[in-house]
Amino acid sequence: LSPPDAATGTVVALRFEQETLWALDQTALPWIERELELRSAAEVADAIARLAIRGAPLIGVAAGYGVALQLLRDPTPAALERAAGALKRSRPTAANLGWAVDRVAAAATAEGGVSAEAALAEARAIDAGERAASDALAAHGADLLADVRRVMTHCNTGALAAPGRGTALAVVAELAARGRLEHVLATESRPLLQGARLTVYELRRLGIAHELIVDSAAAGLIAAGTVDAVLVGCDRVAANGDVANKVGTYGLALAAGAAGIPFVVVGPTSTIDPLCLSGAEIVIEERDPAEVVSAPAAGGPAQLAPDGTACRNPAFDITPAALISALVTERGVVTNPGRDAIAALLGAR
Ligand code: MRU
Repeated sequence: LSPPDAATGTVVALRFEQETLWALDQTALPWIERELELRSAAEVADAIARLAIRGAPLIGVAAGYGVALQLLRDPTPAALERAAGALKRSRPTAANLGWAVDRVAAAATAEGGVSAEAALAEARAIDAGERAASDALAAHGADLLADVRRVMTHCNTGALAAPGRGTALAVVAELAARGRLEHVLATESRPLLQGARLTVYELRRLGIAHELIVDSAAAGLIAAGTVDAVLVGCDRVAANGDVANKVGTYGLALAAGAAGIPFVVVGPTSTIDPLCLSGAEIVIEERDPAEVVSAPAAGGPAQLAPDGTACRNPAFDITPAALISALVTERGVVTNPGRDAIAALLGAR
């Protein structure tokens, strides 16, 4: 495994070296630390679909490299079209995926033919840009939440979910680095346990005091006044400020609103989709019901319910903009996000 990032000490979820995308296999964490060696768009698409690579900004960066990997083997328009299609189909909800694929495809074809070198340069530029965005949004978020001492967070939004330090967890890490933070409550994030497996893994490495809770404890603990704010990431932000994020986010927003504490969404502007008018237009990924009747566990999945149990498994939900206190991006903070404020933020791009 590559050592932690020298500048930040955070885990390195992805690296592109020797014409290979090396990805920390997030399906195996926290029990096994191993890297996948990915050499084609199909392999990257499969890793994204299985959540070996996950988190909206990280899947965007990986998909960008996926296009470049394919063009290094076969720099033709047909290969570009196949690679872009496979990567875009791998997961539907995160805006970053299509955004990154389109950027790399446009760079590859900018001079007429199809250039693998230009594709790789653009993929690297996206990676570097998202890393810089993570640092900037961490600082903006920590400035905004300077008085916050105890936070709740959902899913995994750290260095495993985005280049650099992540999104919401980057703000948490920055608050801790500034000596402000006392405690984090992390939700399990059923069914795939990104909170229990990945956020706890990161918080331990960062040395930040935390407790894990089951998802169903969150509303009661918010109502009881155990946290000062709820911080989450985002997979797609509509032009009106509605947000798609890990299933369970909407319930946390309702609970935070009822308790009168800030509900803060954190993400880079690559997650904002200006062409998506509202949350009603966002495609919510429905995943395999088998994920609901089992849980990831050391040594292999644990079965939780009888074989053949009928299940619904939406991976995300929509939080209406009206429930969001602030959207923190690398370009700054939008309080009470809505259509005009988001357009102004993107206009400043
Ligand atoms: O299904 P996942 O694990 O990819 O879902 C991830 C989330 O919902 C995150 O909150 C989101 O991608 C933003 S974090 C950088």
